[in-house]
Amino acid sequence: RQKLSQYNTIDDAAKLLRTKKNIMVITGAGISTSLGIPDFRSQGTGFYDKVRALGYGGGEDVFQIEEFDRDPSIFYSLAGDILPDLKRFSPTHAFLKLLQTKNRLQTNYTQNIDNLEELAGIDKSRLIQCHGSFATASCRKCKNQVPGRVIFDDIRAKRVAKCKRCIQVMSKQPSARPPLKKRKPKSTVLRKNDWEDSSDDDNGTAYDLPQPGIMKPDITFFGEKLPDTFFDRFMDEDRHAVDLVIVIGTSLKVAPVSEMCNHLPAEVPHIYISREPIEHVNFDIQLLGESDHVVFELCKRTGWGLRHEMLPEG
Ligand code: OAD
Repeated sequence: RQKLSQYNTIDDAAKLLRTKKNIMVITGAGISTSLGIPDFRSQGTGFYDKVRALGYGGGEDVFQIEEFDRDPSIFYSLAGDILPDLKRFSPTHAFLKLLQTKNRLQTNYTQNIDNLEELAGIDKSRLIQCHGSFATASCRKCKNQVPGRVIFDDIRAKRVAKCKRCIQVMSKQPSARPPLKKRKPKSTVLRKNDWEDSSDDDNGTAYDLPQPGIMKPDITFFGEKLPDTFFDRFMDEDRHAVDLVIVIGTSLKVAPVSEMCNHLPAEVPHIYISREPIEHVNFDIQLLGESDHVVFELCKRTGWGLRHEMLPEG
């Protein structure tokens, strides 16, 4: 995208908001930080700094699928920090809802896994959860899917969640232990019993008992494929009809979401709302600050009232 633009100011942004009808909004962790949910990469406060401070090396390893399969306890010991309480959404979520109410929200592509868009009332048909969410969880072994809340207690207790279906199936199967075999008494002296199983053999041979699968929230980990709906909706539909892009509260450091803007027509104006400026993607307008305050001011200048308990009366 070219950098030179006829749009520069917050009033230009307000004008675009008033006139455009197919607004694509791409969101990230920054729209939930005002609720106390940490983002990932902010220095000092981000989730990855916390993970590193606990001695887990590269923060992103927590979301590597190979790491999870190798040792799920690392994820389970940390995930409680990003588990939402699902009781409140932010003023920026209320802004998304307002766009929807005004019939201007084409699609909200969210990278967030907190599922708060749903709580704010964003229709499923207008929401693409690019990185999945905590709303459901699946067994890594038998693929059984359950509502996410089924494993919330385990996450809060930092306990690895095991698949109840696997456990049920295993309990119905005949024992996997090798059959007991009768041995000749070693002596005629009274002994505790003459029945021993092979695990008590002198050579101490161990054998594997079957294990239940581990439950994983249906969050897209690094190394996993994004949901098909992301590619289908974006490539086949939205990019041809979009007339304004607003990106809010994301560092745009994770592909493929970070590459979406490159696939959009150059003439479509792009607005960026976040704390820090961004350089690796060209935006027509960058509105810097707390996203809740920026969208409040933007709505005011657009002539729309944005209401939320955390905002002053508009
Ligand atoms: P990041 O933490 O990388 O970026 C959040 C951005 O929001 C930063 O630029 C912050 O400065 C900004 N920010 C934070 N609070 C804000 C506020 N109140 N108002 C305005 N801006 C604010 O988070 P994402 O870009 O969402 O993947 O991260 C993308 C993906 O990386 C995540 O989905 C996650 C992670 O690995 C998975 O969970 C699989």
